[in-house]
Amino acid sequence: MTESLILRELLAAGQGWVSGGAMATKLGVSRVSVWHQMEKLRSQGFEFEAQPARGYRLSKMPPMLHPGLVEAQLKVRRKGFGFEVRETIDSTNDECARLLAAGRPVPFAVFAQRQTKGRGRFGRVWHSESSGNLYSSFAFRPRIAPERMQTFTLWMGVNLCELIANFTELVPGLKWPNDLVFDGRKAGGMLTEARVDADHIRDLVFGLGLNVNSPAAGWPADLASRAVALSELAGKPLDLNRLTAALIGRVLLAYESFVAGDHLEKFPELWHRYDRLRGRRVAVLEGGRRHVGAVSGVDDEGALLLRDDQGRSRRFRAGEVTLEKT
Ligand code: BTN
Repeated sequence: MTESLILRELLAAGQGWVSGGAMATKLGVSRVSVWHQMEKLRSQGFEFEAQPARGYRLSKMPPMLHPGLVEAQLKVRRKGFGFEVRETIDSTNDECARLLAAGRPVPFAVFAQRQTKGRGRFGRVWHSESSGNLYSSFAFRPRIAPERMQTFTLWMGVNLCELIANFTELVPGLKWPNDLVFDGRKAGGMLTEARVDADHIRDLVFGLGLNVNSPAAGWPADLASRAVALSELAGKPLDLNRLTAALIGRVLLAYESFVAGDHLEKFPELWHRYDRLRGRRVAVLEGGRRHVGAVSGVDDEGALLLRDDQGRSRRFRAGEVTLEKT
């Protein structure tokens, strides 16, 4: 805790100096304790200038995910919310499921520098080697009906687009139901998983993999033409810790408005803004069958609406969508 408070003071000072004594008084700890924390931060890749008369000035931060830097940049501290950053984990979704099963209070989130068994939809592998990317999962226990899960992912998707658009000035898009795309290349994917009791959701994990700072040359051959990182599109590395702090704020807010039902007013306009499939000719692969048609939108349950060549309307609750050549 002291660590993130110290970082908060140093970040707030920007290029200015913060005196060790003033920090100690403000945080209610000894000067020695501040000094110890600064040394610990140095060993984690932070660099400070120190001048006896002026104090400390932050000159370098580690590029990797750092819990203190995330905590220090949270705009709002939500009561009861906790998160952890793991160096290596099998899957942040799986870790959340285990913690939920063990009874951990919600909401909470798990982040990882890398995953050894990152999963995507249809049990696919989510390439999770670069520690410059975001591997995150949020855990909740919502009292909602299971059929609302699809709209939950779509709602989270538009919120993530808003977050990325504000943070980077890039123009993101969504490919139903869970892909974050830029001109057809995928920068992120969402995986919502729930345990269901009779007619309601017992607990829910919202997973997000976002390619933030991975080098363009680092993708395996099969992904090289399909995957992209935000840094490549922005032409510069992004501040992973500030982005993660903003993500936490956005996801928690979006979750609350979904559970309260007041997202319904905003969703159609936002979906319209970010949906990249509307009007496009696509093929939907569902249960081994391929259906071709033009996308006319999504319905109230988040199902994809397709008008086939005979003019018939079809709806798909799940499926893999590919763009047809025109
Ligand atoms: C997809 O596009 O198919 C969804 C990909 C979701 C990947 C994220 S990375 C963090 C979380 N943990 C996982 O194992 N999967 C999700």
